[in-house]
Amino acid sequence: MSFSAKRVLLSSRAPRCWWWRQEPSCAAAGPAWSSLGGSRPRPILDMSYSRHFLDFQGSSIPSSMKKLVVTKLSQNFREAVTLRQDSPVPLPGDGDLLVRNRFVGINASDINYSAGRYDTSVKPPFDIGFEGVGDVVALGLSASADCTVGQAVAYVKAGSFAEYTVVPAKQAVPLPSVKPEFLTLMVSGTTAYISLKELGELSEGKKVLVTAAAGGTGQFAVQLAKKAKCHVIGTCSSDEKGGFLKSIGCDHTINHKTENVESVLRRDYPEGVDVVYESVGGKMFDLAVNSLATKGCLILIGFITGYQNPTGLQPIKAELLPGKLLKKSASIRGFFLNHYFSEYKMALKHLLKMYERGELVCEVDLGDMSPEGKFTGLESVFRAVDYMYMGKNIGKIVVELPHSVNSKL
Ligand SMILES: NC(=O)c1ccc[n+]([C@@H]2O[C@H](COP(=O)([O-])OP(=O)(O)OC[C@H]3O[C@@H](n4cnc5c(N)ncnc54)[C@H](OP(=O)(O)O)[C@@H]3O)[C@@H](O)[C@H]2O)c1
Repeated sequence: MSFSAKRVLLSSRAPRCWWWRQEPSCAAAGPAWSSLGGSRPRPILDMSYSRHFLDFQGSSIPSSMKKLVVTKLSQNFREAVTLRQDSPVPLPGDGDLLVRNRFVGINASDINYSAGRYDTSVKPPFDIGFEGVGDVVALGLSASADCTVGQAVAYVKAGSFAEYTVVPAKQAVPLPSVKPEFLTLMVSGTTAYISLKELGELSEGKKVLVTAAAGGTGQFAVQLAKKAKCHVIGTCSSDEKGGFLKSIGCDHTINHKTENVESVLRRDYPEGVDVVYESVGGKMFDLAVNSLATKGCLILIGFITGYQNPTGLQPIKAELLPGKLLKKSASIRGFFLNHYFSEYKMALKHLLKMYERGELVCEVDLGDMSPEGKFTGLESVFRAVDYMYMGKNIGKIVVELPHSVNSKL
């Protein structure tokens, strides 16, 4: 497969969503119910009085839909999640949009979510899927002040693995069109942008190691570090991924399946690396710590090698850490997007601008090269999660949800 050929450019009782609370964008940002002091205003399109109603172009919005629901807590996605065929299409409230999802993003943490690791107090059944891109097909009265039916939007909110999702207008980002590339920026892009900006202290000539560099978030860490004029080293598991990394500017790629990453780093960077964007964990984490330069910093983004374990963890040589860090005045800093809401809007704006100007590759993997082909429909979310955990993806894994038959959108 040639990645350049496939590149496009280049509520139910869901647990609280953890990585978004943004200022209004598509939003009406109207007063909350309680502050109106009265009864609930009636949404513009009130689905409650009718089994079916028409959207703005006459396409029918059904009363029921397919969605994925976590029915059992497990890090095994297939065991945890059930495809429900006949869930009611949710009603948008006064400040809400009803979004018909067209593309939904797969994240490594979907299995942490299905295992209940985000909010241990919530019990199944609950909705799953962190992010989506789609069209607004209905909306509440307050939401209509700034948003219209037919608007393309992206959002980060739990419950995107569904044909329709209710999204508070405040959390929706208006888009020029419905494209999967926009989805790559919502979680993966902003994670790289904010963490490197806030914690990376990048400057010209610094050596930056990115692990899982060809993946959803890794691809952005590579490109953003290059934009800061750093020397970028990326790990990956195939020559094809290495080729992709070269194409986005990565200076040095290391195939962790065929090369000893630590030896290569010791040989080629005897002084060590200044910054590590680390999302793999286990042995990769240990060798990355060993490879830090004096005053180097490892940004801890994740530890995917542990997520499939019952504990969610992967052993590391923790007892050696204090000595290793002290000897080099080095540091490890954790980063969790959820804690950086205040930076989110600015980061997304910058990334969208870079993409519009053609300065950023937003690689999407729609599964065309996966054994059973393109990820189409909610049924294929299971395959898409497997594909990620086989380490096969190049760029962000995205599942396309086909249009409903009657849609004229
Ligand atoms: N802290 C935050 O706020 C935040 C936000 C988003 C994502 N993340 C983290 O970033 C990491 C990447 O997430 P993503 O959604 O963007 O996934 P991704 O990078 O698109 O896909 C995962 C990649 O990890 C690599 N990998 C290494 N060991 C693996 C293993 N044992 N099983 C499966 N894959 C393995 C594979 O690439 P190669 O083996 O080819 O390198 C695979 O393609 C995860 O640790 C995730 O938790 C953190």
